Amino acid sequence: MPENVPNSDKKYNEELKKKILRLKEERDAVIIAHNYQRDEVQEIAEITGDSLALSQAAIRTDAKVIVFCGVTFMAETAAILNPGKIVLLPVIEAGCPMADMITAEKLRARKAEYPDAAVVCYVNSSARVKAESDICCTSSNAIEVVRSLKDYKRVIFVPDRNLGKYVQSQVTDKEIILWKGFCPTHIRVQEEDILEVRKKYPDTEFIAHPECEPEVLALADHICSTGGMFKYIKNSKSKRFIIGTEAGMLYRLKKENPDKEFFLATEHLICPSMKLTTLGWVAHSLEEMVYKVEVPADVAEKAKRTLDRMLAVSGEKPVAAIAGY
Ligand code: 13P
Ligand code: SF4
Repeated sequence: MPENVPNSDKKYNEELKKKILRLKEERDAVIIAHNYQRDEVQEIAEITGDSLALSQAAIRTDAKVIVFCGVTFMAETAAILNPGKIVLLPVIEAGCPMADMITAEKLRARKAEYPDAAVVCYVNSSARVKAESDICCTSSNAIEVVRSLKDYKRVIFVPDRNLGKYVQSQVTDKEIILWKGFCPTHIRVQEEDILEVRKKYPDTEFIAHPECEPEVLALADHICSTGGMFKYIKNSKSKRFIIGTEAGMLYRLKKENPDKEFFLATEHLICPSMKLTTLGWVAHSLEEMVYKVEVPADVAEKAKRTLDRMLAVSGEKPVAAIAGY
């Protein structure tokens, strides 16, 4: 069987893990994985987390090579924040369909319609879209970022319409111009999915990612990023939780909370792009030093300003001076 095919053979996976650890040392690499990655990939990663935590971790690392187990926009973000480092994305096709729902050209056209608006881009966007935006945000700081735009009454929010709507519900003194993007995985959660579990276990808390549809979010006890879910659940007195985000979250949630019970809101909460990365592809990535993620310098410079502004708002020291902000 080729190494890049997921394999449940324990011995085979142990061999692959050893190979990855050896190559990691040889290459002076760090392995970073998003919370939606396969269990075995999270297991070999030094750093796991949500989009914000991972972009912050990328800045702090001393390693020469960053192997980013996630999707393209995440690896691009790491490359933009680490100009001197090599960033590898193990699977070249691992894109985010939501990020592909907007282009820099389309965003420029929208900006021309609303010249007085600030542009906030969700981190799930291409480097070119970031370069065309004023400030970036993630699901954990979107409200804070929009609130920080004190001089603006109008905000163009791209590309996720659901995160944008959620921010609008929390920030009432600004008008948010929405884009029509969405996450094909998160919109699969239906109200009935939640009501069904609650019928059986009325004491179950429902924790939702803001990429879910508004009618589903209306049923949530808590709405937060994937990183926020770990904190919230750890501190909650409840024993049962419905998880309204991608299945990969269950790996660490179960490990860190052995006394708690988790129900995935629906079995369809699987992001096909996130699941493309296997141990075999990670080994291949380190062995062949592929696939290098490089952002053209002019785009990277502008996109970095957009990211630095976000990091300044969320308490992280900007890695470069922020011109004109
Ligand atoms: P987080 O910012 O919560 O990690 O989410 C990223 C993502 O792709 C959600 O679908
Ligand atoms: Fe993109 Fe949705 Fe997958 Fe997140 S879960 S990477 S938003 S497709």
